[in-house]
Amino acid sequence: MNGAPVSAVTAVAPGRVNLIGDHTDTTGGLVLPLAVDLVTTVTGRTGGTEVVLTSDTEAEPARVPLDVADPAAATPGWARYVAGVVAELRPPVGFTGTVTTTLPVGAGLSSSAALEVAVALALGFDGDPLDLARLTQRAEQVASGVPCGIMDQLASAAGVDGHALLIDCHSLVITPVPVPDGAEIRVVHSGQARELASSAYAERAASVHAAEAVVGPLRLVHDIDALDVIEDELLRRRARHVVTENARVRRAAAALQAGDLPTAGRAMVASHTSLRDDFEVSTDVLDRLVERLVATPGVHGARLTGAGFGGCVVALAEPGALTEGWQVQPSRGAHLL
Ligand code: GLA
Repeated sequence: MNGAPVSAVTAVAPGRVNLIGDHTDTTGGLVLPLAVDLVTTVTGRTGGTEVVLTSDTEAEPARVPLDVADPAAATPGWARYVAGVVAELRPPVGFTGTVTTTLPVGAGLSSSAALEVAVALALGFDGDPLDLARLTQRAEQVASGVPCGIMDQLASAAGVDGHALLIDCHSLVITPVPVPDGAEIRVVHSGQARELASSAYAERAASVHAAEAVVGPLRLVHDIDALDVIEDELLRRRARHVVTENARVRRAAAALQAGDLPTAGRAMVASHTSLRDDFEVSTDVLDRLVERLVATPGVHGARLTGAGFGGCVVALAEPGALTEGWQVQPSRGAHLL
C-alpha cells in the first residue's frame, strides 16, 4: 500500500455508511458497510520531530510530538485522533501538512476513522488494509476511550468501488457485494448530535459480553431460543438484537447480491426496530425520520446507521425517490495519490 519513503505525500481515506449490521462487530458478528465518496485528504511533507496538521474544519492545529505518551489528553479535541495514530504507528520522522474533508464531521459517517486512516497512510504506514484497520482501530480506542469495533476503520481501509463489504468481524474475511445499478443509497442527518454515544456504547458492549459469559459467542447462536437461559431480561434483549442482526445481515447481503432490493430494504427496517426496541440505541428523532423515509414512495428501507443516539439514517431507494441528505456511492478504500 506504500512505496519507498517520500517527502511529499497525499493520502485519501473515505468515510463509511453501514447498510446493516450495527452493534455486531464487537462480538465478531457480521456487518455490511460501504466506503463512500466523501473523503478526508491529508497532504504534506515529512520532516521534523512532531506531526503538525491544520484542518479546514478546525480552528486550532493538531501538534503532536512523535513520543506522545497520552493521546487522549491531546488538545484540541481532534488532535487526539492524530495522537492516537502517532502513538500506534510511532513514525521515525515528523510531518507537516493540512487536512481537508468532504465528510460531515461527527455525523456518524466515520469522519474520525477516515482521519485516522488518512493520517496513518500519510505518516508512512506500510501494510495491507486489514493491518491498517487494526492499527487505526487501536488509535481510535486510545484516543476516545471507547471500546469500538473494527468496522469503521476496515470499511475505510478496504472499500471496493461499486460494492458494499460483507465483513465477518471474527475471521475478518471481507466479501464484496455489488450494489445494483438501480439502488440509490442516501444518508440523511437527523439533526441530532450523538452526545450519549460514547458512554452508552461502552455500556452496550459490556452487556453483550456479559450475555456471552452465559451463552458463549453470540456469533455462533442461530436460534434465539438458546438465549432463554439468560435470566436477566435486559441482557437477553441485548443479545437477541445481536443474534437477529447477524441473521439480517446475511439476508440483506444475499438480497443485494440477487438484486432484490425490497428484501434488503425490509431487513433494514427490521434492523431499525431491533436497534430501537432490543438494543435501545435509537431516539424519537431517528424513529420519526425512519418512519417518514420508509413511507416515501420508492424507498425500500431505512434505518439508523452506526452507533445510534442521534446522527444519521441510511436509506435504500430507487433513483430519484429521495432528494434530501447525501447520495453516496460505494467507493474504493484509502490510498496514496
Ligand atoms: C461505531 C463503532 C463501530 C460499530 C458501530 C455500531 O461506529 O466505531 O465499531 O460498533 O458503532 O455498529
